[in-house]
Amino acid sequence: MAGISILNSFVKKDRKAYKLKPKCRVIAPLSQKGGATKSTSCVNIASVLCEMGYRVLVIDLDQQGHSTMGLGGDNLEWEYTMANVLDYEKIIEDFDPIPIEKALMKTLFESKTDGSLWLIGANITNEEYSAAHYNDPSKKMLLSEELDKIKDKFDFIIIDSPPGLDFWNWSAIFALDYIIVPLEPGHGEMRSYNDFMETLLQIKEVNPKLKHLGTFLTKANPQTNLYKDFKQNFEVNTPGILFESEIPQDTKIKESLGYGIPVTLYASSSKSSKSYWSLTEEVLKRCQLIEAKG
Ligand SMILES: Nc1ncnc2c1ncn2[C@@H]1O[C@H](COP(=O)(O)OP(=O)(O)O)[C@@H](O)[C@H]1O
Ligand SMILES: [Mg+2]
Repeated sequence: MAGISILNSFVKKDRKAYKLKPKCRVIAPLSQKGGATKSTSCVNIASVLCEMGYRVLVIDLDQQGHSTMGLGGDNLEWEYTMANVLDYEKIIEDFDPIPIEKALMKTLFESKTDGSLWLIGANITNEEYSAAHYNDPSKKMLLSEELDKIKDKFDFIIIDSPPGLDFWNWSAIFALDYIIVPLEPGHGEMRSYNDFMETLLQIKEVNPKLKHLGTFLTKANPQTNLYKDFKQNFEVNTPGILFESEIPQDTKIKESLGYGIPVTLYASSSKSSKSYWSLTEEVLKRCQLIEAKG
């Protein structure tokens, strides 16, 4: 199995192994489905990039705050969400929007190789803002404009969006360079995935520079026939899309969320940690390939 062979030759590499041009890339795991592992993937890919030595910012846009929690945000003091940065005063009188720099909080995670991991957290204000501006297309550019102000501070900005395609998803879509798509083997999941691939055509009309880097299997259980058939069918029907790396079903992931520590640090030698490392490496390689082609 390809995913397993990658893990057998697993060696952690740092940023020097990748000759990426120094610029900020905005990436998101995207899927319309809740529970697709978007937040888990944001947290762990960001943690790996930080360990590699990159300056990373995670922006949580989902009021459920799972990536805020997963990066230890619940144990830190912070006040502002992206809703506060955009023009939140339209909802709460006398509220002045705050500069995006004030919403940046440094997490406790950093690396020996100068990597750092920052977070803009999410809470109920995200939901209130989204509900108030749902039908206001002009507001959907604001996130992208705000990110332009801080791109010189980061190598990667990873965006965690809510499920569905609400205000925050479309705001993110305007700002993104790359998406990766998590997919759990299953028939219902495949149906949602196909719907999402149709939506991706509309998404690309809105943001033509956005690239789908690839799709990865998650919560994978390679022993099951469901997994084997699913993977084989997927590869036959859509060759070249799947990442070789896949994230196994692993209870350590749920445990790590409770501690506010990415699984890549909480259980660094676990299969899921190694899988997130190899997935992140593949993400970097695919960025490199696309950018080399120009
Ligand atoms: N590889 C995995 N194995 C087992 N559980 C996982 C795995 N990845 C994520 N989970 C759990 O699945 C649930 C949904 O994941 P989450 O990242 O919150 O999805 P989303 O952000 O797409 O809604 C969470 O409880 C999370 O801890
Ligand atoms: Mg989530």
